[in-house]
Amino acid sequence: MPAGSPNLSFIIKTNANPLPEAEREAAFANLGFGTLFTDHMAIIRWSADKGWHGAEIVARGPIAMDPASSVLHYAQEIFEGMKAYRTQDGHAVLFRPEENARRFRESAQRMAMPELPEADFIAAVDELVRIDAKWIPQGDGSLYLRPFMFASETFLGVRSSREYIFCVIASPVGPYFKGGAKAVKIWVSQNYTRAAQGGTGVAKCGGNYAASLVAQAEASAEGCDQVVFLDAAEHRWVEELGGMNIFFVMDDGSLLTPPLGGTILPGVTRKSLIALARDKGLTVREELYSFDQWKADAASGRMREAFACGTAAVVAGIGTVKFTGGEFMIGSGETGPVTSEMREALVGIQKGQRDDPHGWVHTVTKA
Ligand code: COI
Repeated sequence: MPAGSPNLSFIIKTNANPLPEAEREAAFANLGFGTLFTDHMAIIRWSADKGWHGAEIVARGPIAMDPASSVLHYAQEIFEGMKAYRTQDGHAVLFRPEENARRFRESAQRMAMPELPEADFIAAVDELVRIDAKWIPQGDGSLYLRPFMFASETFLGVRSSREYIFCVIASPVGPYFKGGAKAVKIWVSQNYTRAAQGGTGVAKCGGNYAASLVAQAEASAEGCDQVVFLDAAEHRWVEELGGMNIFFVMDDGSLLTPPLGGTILPGVTRKSLIALARDKGLTVREELYSFDQWKADAASGRMREAFACGTAAVVAGIGTVKFTGGEFMIGSGETGPVTSEMREALVGIQKGQRDDPHGWVHTVTKA
């Protein structure tokens, strides 16, 4: 569904002290994830009396907050993750921004926050990408965009805030995992869960990620890259990783991924991979899958590959699964051929190297 026309127009206040080009280029030589930031940010404010107002692009910098700002106490905060890419012909493009705009609105609904019209969400991201286009790395890197919104009213009562700040920041990134394309090792959390029915698992709110951190710390202490959560009711069904969805590749060539069902984040990468796999004629099943079955299928060879996927992680092969009392390998323990093929199909479209039959690529600036 097209997002329509934006309601807001942005006042552009250019950063008077941008990072010098030589420093930016030097930083590009060794990109990790989420430590380097561009010169600008987009801001839109909301208040109960004025609605959405004050759209501007300003120099990136601290946001002054009262210590009683309600987000600091009750965590009314949501965010998105998306990327801008530089195509071979030099265009700056986004991938399915309308999906992020819609999910952001749905997260806002769940968290009792005002819904930013989708066209204004996309306009904010477009404006930031346009002004900071030189920050999109060439080659394997991309410009990670982080739209977010938080409750900014100075008030300690427990109710939804009457003031919010929506902001978009941008960060040139390389691989999310330290090992780059190497298959990752994941830890199955049997003590902690991420989301229960009726909770906030379906929303992209900071609280879900805060709740995952103790399990993620356990994963790191176990020498793993990521944690995978089981369902909260039975501690039996595989749900998702701390910050990404999961897919399994079976010996008949089919793909399996846990169904959304209210506790799993509806990933844009997840949705896109399902469509791409079906385009290739592969069967994709969205079905409950138990941890016990996973162990059995990995042992019997019925499971050939597994991979994690998300905007930040893209598509990352899972080589080893560790849990209290043991560990098992999936396939050869390396990234498998279907995983690599899915990754290439997705990245190829995102970077304009492959046909885009679904019309997913959104051009921000032409070279
Ligand atoms: C993303 O993939 O964009 C996320 O928000 C997840 C997080 C691991 C960075």
